[in-house]
Amino acid sequence: MSRKHHHHYKGAEVSCCVKYFLFGFNILFWLLGASFLAIGLWAWAEKGVLSNLSAITDLGALDPVWLFIVVGAVMFILGFAGCIGALRENTTLLKFFSVFLGLIFFLELTAGILSFVFKDWIKDQLNLFINKNVKAYRDDIDLQNVIDFAQEYWSCCGTHGSDDWNLNMYFNCTELNPSRESCGVPFSCCVKDPAEDVLNTQCGYDVRRQEEQNRQKFIYTKGCVGQFEKWLQDKLIIVAGIFVGIALLQIFGICLAQNLVSDVKAVKANW
Ligand SMILES: *[C@@H]1O[C@H](CO)[C@@H](O)[C@H](O)[C@H]1NC(C)=O
Ligand SMILES: *[C@@H]1O[C@H](CO)[C@@H](O)[C@H](O)[C@H]1NC(C)=O
Repeated sequence: MSRKHHHHYKGAEVSCCVKYFLFGFNILFWLLGASFLAIGLWAWAEKGVLSNLSAITDLGALDPVWLFIVVGAVMFILGFAGCIGALRENTTLLKFFSVFLGLIFFLELTAGILSFVFKDWIKDQLNLFINKNVKAYRDDIDLQNVIDFAQEYWSCCGTHGSDDWNLNMYFNCTELNPSRESCGVPFSCCVKDPAEDVLNTQCGYDVRRQEEQNRQKFIYTKGCVGQFEKWLQDKLIIVAGIFVGIALLQIFGICLAQNLVSDVKAVKANW
């Protein structure tokens, strides 16, 4: 609405670059958030969680779908506020955008500092958390996929080693356990044979009936927490770079939104 008038007044103009940059960037963000949300909701619908919401809390461990829903919702809201706020030159939406982004930035900073200070506590919690997930391995297909991915990617088995699979009732290595998978490990623990192109999902059966040293030929014996720590140390520069990059992007977004807000205000003041 201010467009018609503002060219009569020198110095008070809404920068089109800021406006359309903010708009373009946020529309990507919005679409990405919408896709994440859609994937999450679809996964929940598949599991029948949507028709019975009490089943959300049923699982003792983390349902990885949560991650999609939460990240998707945050991106969707941010993207919407930034995109529409920039396009309509709506200062309320733009202010909401920068405050929300600032809040997330502040939370990230706090989490970063706290995780550095309470490193050991976090490691303990991580161990407990992974153990819970190991216990629930067969209860949820998405969780199973995440654990399989982690064990394959980091070449590891269990939290500290392959015997952690005793925590899972199907893999528990006792005489009384009637499960076929007793004393076994999931296939994702298996050392991959490059010559074999068909995945053998039974490769982990009975492998823990053998001596610890003999297992190394067939499965990864290192625990996932240790392997993950090693990976993090190797990739520290890249991981830190990603976090700094995200932080800079957030500060940049806040600056752009504030810039646009003050432009719009200046134009309105000159009206
Ligand atoms: C909903 O889920 C809960 C927990 O899993 C279960 O106890 C209950 O029977 C379910 N209700 C229906 C209508 O399926
Ligand atoms: C595994 O077996 C042992 C011995 O029978 C039992 O004490 C333990 O509770 C079992 N663990 C699970 C997760 O079923």
